[in-house]
Amino acid sequence: MLDKLNSLFDDFKSKIESLETQADVLNLKSSVLGKKGSLSEILKSLKDASVEVKKQVGPVSNQMKGQIEKLVQSKLNDIEVKAVNAKLAKDKIDYTLTDDILEKGLQAAGLHPVTQIQREIEDIFISMGFDVLDGPHIEDDWHNFEALNIPETHPARDMQDTFWFKDMKHLLRTHTSTIQVRGMESKKPPFKFVGPGKVFRCERTDATHEMCFHQLEGMMVGKDITVGNLIYFMKTLLKEIFKKDMEVRLRPGYFPFVEPGFELDIRWKKPDPKKGESEHSGWLELLPCGMVHPEVLKAGGIDPNEYNGFAFGLGLDRLVMVKYAIEDIRHLHSGDLRFNEQFKTF
Ligand code: DAH
Repeated sequence: MLDKLNSLFDDFKSKIESLETQADVLNLKSSVLGKKGSLSEILKSLKDASVEVKKQVGPVSNQMKGQIEKLVQSKLNDIEVKAVNAKLAKDKIDYTLTDDILEKGLQAAGLHPVTQIQREIEDIFISMGFDVLDGPHIEDDWHNFEALNIPETHPARDMQDTFWFKDMKHLLRTHTSTIQVRGMESKKPPFKFVGPGKVFRCERTDATHEMCFHQLEGMMVGKDITVGNLIYFMKTLLKEIFKKDMEVRLRPGYFPFVEPGFELDIRWKKPDPKKGESEHSGWLELLPCGMVHPEVLKAGGIDPNEYNGFAFGLGLDRLVMVKYAIEDIRHLHSGDLRFNEQFKTF
């Protein structure tokens, strides 16, 4: 009987080795250990054997059963590991970047239209003697509100739905006007700079609103700066962007950090995507601006009796939309290559 058991075990071992699927392994297992399996049959026949034989065969068969179960388990694991590895090998991503891949990538890629317009405007201002400043996305209350003449209880805080951090002291900047404060803190007048970047508002998104968008702040501080200076720089900017002289008008607008504050409108013929420029012309609100409020200068450590200045905040996404007649701001963040590829320039 021991011989029978040994040959059964050898047979099992040679069979299981060649199996490749978990189902086949489980079938083999039940053909040996199942109710009518070969080992079970041998054990059943033990009942007629002598006590001597029972004593000899009993422990061996139990041990064999345990070994068979172990072999089955490890074979099942092997098959699983093999399958996972095969899948990983198949889905493998090649991270090596060779010159030809880079070349192809560059041909397919391009700068986002907002980045393009931001760089274009930076260049225009640099050519007019402005510096380009940066500021952090995570700001404190002082730079986003307080120093801009928006104290805690001021209703103007409600104009901007803010993402606050848990400490209620830090926030995602709601506008690039924070860069005005940082600029005043780091520079001695006279100075002029622009500060582009992302801003964040807790907005419900729709065709004209996004939670994250882009602005470009501008500030000029010196002696005897006038609204005339403001209009000159804005008209020069618009001429460069739209490649022609633009008619502008100023309307009163309220922002706590400027006094007087304005909305600058441009005379605009709405481009018709099919026919080019349409005949319909009207005023389009483009850019809020104004003369820097004396309290803001003070907060920036500048004596308002000695210096004054102007500031403006340009919405870059909006400008791109106006320039290219894009009807929905959500296209800009969609990551849809069919959209992005229309603005490919190098
Ligand atoms: N920070 C304002 C906003 O996001 C825009 C703005 C208005 C900026 C007037 C200015 C300004 O510099 O003078 O709503």
